[in-house]
Amino acid sequence: MKTMENKVALVTGGGKGIGLGIAKAFAEQGADVVIAGRHEDVLKKACEENEHFYYVKADITKSDDISRIVQYIKEKFQRLDILVNNAGWCPVKPITEITMKDYDAAFDLDVRALVDMTIQSLDLLKASKGNIINMSSVGGQNPGPNLSMYVGAKAAVENFTKAWAVELAPYGIRVNAIAPGAIETDIWKVPGLTEEESRKHLAESAARIPMKRMGQPEEIGRGAVFLADDKNSYITGTILTIDGGISIG
Ligand SMILES: NC(=O)c1ccc[n+]([C@@H]2O[C@H](COP(=O)([O-])OP(=O)(O)OC[C@H]3O[C@@H](n4cnc5c(N)ncnc54)[C@H](OP(=O)(O)O)[C@@H]3O)[C@@H](O)[C@H]2O)c1
Repeated sequence: MKTMENKVALVTGGGKGIGLGIAKAFAEQGADVVIAGRHEDVLKKACEENEHFYYVKADITKSDDISRIVQYIKEKFQRLDILVNNAGWCPVKPITEITMKDYDAAFDLDVRALVDMTIQSLDLLKASKGNIINMSSVGGQNPGPNLSMYVGAKAAVENFTKAWAVELAPYGIRVNAIAPGAIETDIWKVPGLTEEESRKHLAESAARIPMKRMGQPEEIGRGAVFLADDKNSYITGTILTIDGGISIG
């Protein structure tokens, strides 16, 4: 028996990386999945390769684009059961080099878009007594160097998750977050590195992880399906760490 049959999920940034891993996991369990992102070619390809995928080209830092996503879901499915606020970005710079442009880029996507997407989806989620899953990072609780805009934004995401879990419990909506460790996606691509240098960078990162490997997007997908499963209906306000042990050391 598939656990997500007759459900509709929306995954921001679902065309690639962790978002694609999550979208695939929900579709495998029988859900219809709407993915959103800025690059139509990427979204189209994901829809061609996966059944039960639908897409809306959208820049979620723009409120009007979020409204279009919600309108599409209302017209096409008349329901939304699972909102996955996945899209995020990570500027890697020390505070001595950070500009307000970096701050705005990180917080517009990692925080503002997540809040806007959530507010605009609330009517649908109230109707379905649905689930919100926010994408944090192990950095949300373990701040490392050169990532201050990112870890600051993800700390906000974790506290929003807990606050909304309390506020939305009376509506039957559960709100949880996932804090991934190092997952093999394009977010790890360092500009200017050759392919060989990139491989070395990834291998060095993997060596610091207790499990001695990077995680894969589908491993985050399985965590998201677990959180949204109606059988796990007592789980809310949780930050689910999926990190191969890296946050323990
Ligand atoms: N990979 C890791 O090690 C790791 C670890 C901890 C947490 N995370 C978190 O996991 C999430 C996904 O990361 P990832 O590694 O999968 O990154 P990724 O491969 O770079 O994917 C990012 C996704 O977000 C979308 N996106 C970016 N800006 C957008 C915008 N303005 N509007 C709509 N969509 C937008 C991208 O699509 P377009 O470019 O087409 O818009 C893409 O689909 C992020 O929140 C990240 O912080 C990742």
